Formats: sequence, C-alpha cells, structure tokens
Amino acid sequence: MEVIVTQNAQDMSLTAARVVAKVLNTKPNAVLGLATGSTPLGLYQELVRMHQDEGLDFSQVTTFNLDEYVGLTRKHPQSYHYFMYENLFKHINIPKQNIFIPSGTTDNYEAFCQWYEQRIVECGGIDLQILGIGSDGHIAFNEPSSSLGSRTRIKTLAKQTIDDNARFFDAPEQVPIYAITMGVGTILEARRLLLLANGVNKAAAIAATIEGPVTSMITASALQLHRNAMVIVDRDAASQLKMLDYYEWIQAKMPDAP
Ligand code: F6R
Repeated sequence: MEVIVTQNAQDMSLTAARVVAKVLNTKPNAVLGLATGSTPLGLYQELVRMHQDEGLDFSQVTTFNLDEYVGLTRKHPQSYHYFMYENLFKHINIPKQNIFIPSGTTDNYEAFCQWYEQRIVECGGIDLQILGIGSDGHIAFNEPSSSLGSRTRIKTLAKQTIDDNARFFDAPEQVPIYAITMGVGTILEARRLLLLANGVNKAAAIAATIEGPVTSMITASALQLHRNAMVIVDRDAASQLKMLDYYEWIQAKMPDAP
C-alpha cells in the first residue's frame, strides 16, 4: 500500500485531485467510483475548480457511487444523490446518463443490487475508486464483520456510524438505519483504490487499516490485499502510524527511486 502523508486536509484534497486528474488525462472515458461524506468535499471542490479554470473534462466519464441511505429520496438533502449533485455533478460536464448511484427507494433491492453490479461490469469496471473511512474502519457502509468478499447489498448501519452521521441530520433518530452499499469484494475489483482520511478521530482506524491484520472487523484493512491501493492522510489521521517515519522517508526518496 502506498501511504502519502500530507500536512493538512487541504493538502490531502489537492493531492487526491491531482491523482484523479492524471487518471482522466490518461483515460478521458475513465470509470470513477465515488464516495460521499465530509472527507471528499475538498477533493470535489478542487475537481470543480480544475474543470472551470483548467478545462478538466468529464464529458466521457462514468461514475458509480459507493452507497445510499435506504428510504431517502433523491431530493432529500441528506441523501447521497443530493450530496453528489450539489457538491460535484451540477458543477461539471458529466452527462446525466453516465452517473450511477445506488437507489434508496427501489421496490426490489435484490434486483437493484444485481443490476448495479452488472452495470459496473458492463461499463468496463471501475478504474479509480475513491474511499473515505469510518471511525470504526468501514469502507462504503461495510461495517465491522462484513464479509471481505461481499457484493452490493443492504447493510444495517452500526450504532457508531449512526452516531457519527447524526451531525448531518436535525436529530439522531432521523439517521436511516439501513444503507445500500457496494461490498468489499466489489470495491476490491476496482483497478485502483484511493482512500482519504483526515482528523484525529480517524487515526486509530487508519493505523488498523495500514498496519493491523487484514480483518473483517476493520473492512478498510482489505486494501492490504489490493495491488494498487493508495492512502492519502493528513498529519492528524497519520498520528497513530508506527511506521510514519518510513512512509515519509519513502516519499522523500521517491524522486530518486530507480
Ligand atoms: C460514504 C462512505 C462512508 C464514508 C465514511 C467517512 O459514501 O462510503 O464510508 O466515507 O463514513 O465519512 P466522513 O468522510 O463523513 O467522515
């Protein structure tokens, strides 16, 4: 796993945006996997800026989001549909028909989940999957004890996740209990993974992800099994890494590496 330690959340976002831009410049019709939440907000802001100021082109890009709350309509301000349109899609030139987000209001979740998996395959698979991490070590909504081979399905959110996400809702009781989420197995099939984390409340989960055993109790630790996974963290999220000096040494020596 490649670990990049940045000074702060803004540097984390700018570094991630450069990775995404490089993928799009090399492959203009790339398939991106996208996350929601507070972590990727700065990345999306920078991508919007790059689109507006530098002409970063999304006209051939396809996107698949990781997850959605069950029961929230697209228009609900806390739905991930709403989040994505407000923070990214409405500011860039991506065709609407190229945007895929799990449905939180389908009347047949099983059929929808199968269709979503199939659609990813039909689009050629995900080139670059952006990930955040929960304070309990989840990726997407794959809570502790999720199978590392899991596919898109409904998950019951952990109490910790509901508490963490209550800040976005008027009252904790309003946080949905179920989510539709890509599985860990689905995520591991992306050709490249890019996990972002900032803040001290992510430090323990990041240490477990990078330096702990591969375990379904920290689903992000499955990134250790992927051959092209990069983690970009700020200093706070990196603060519990035992090998921090080594990761920084690698970064410093990178320009001269053979
Ligand atoms: C959201 C998602 C979640 C978040 C995670 C961290 O699409 O997949 O795994 O990435 O809960 O959320 P924030 O960034 O709000 O701390």
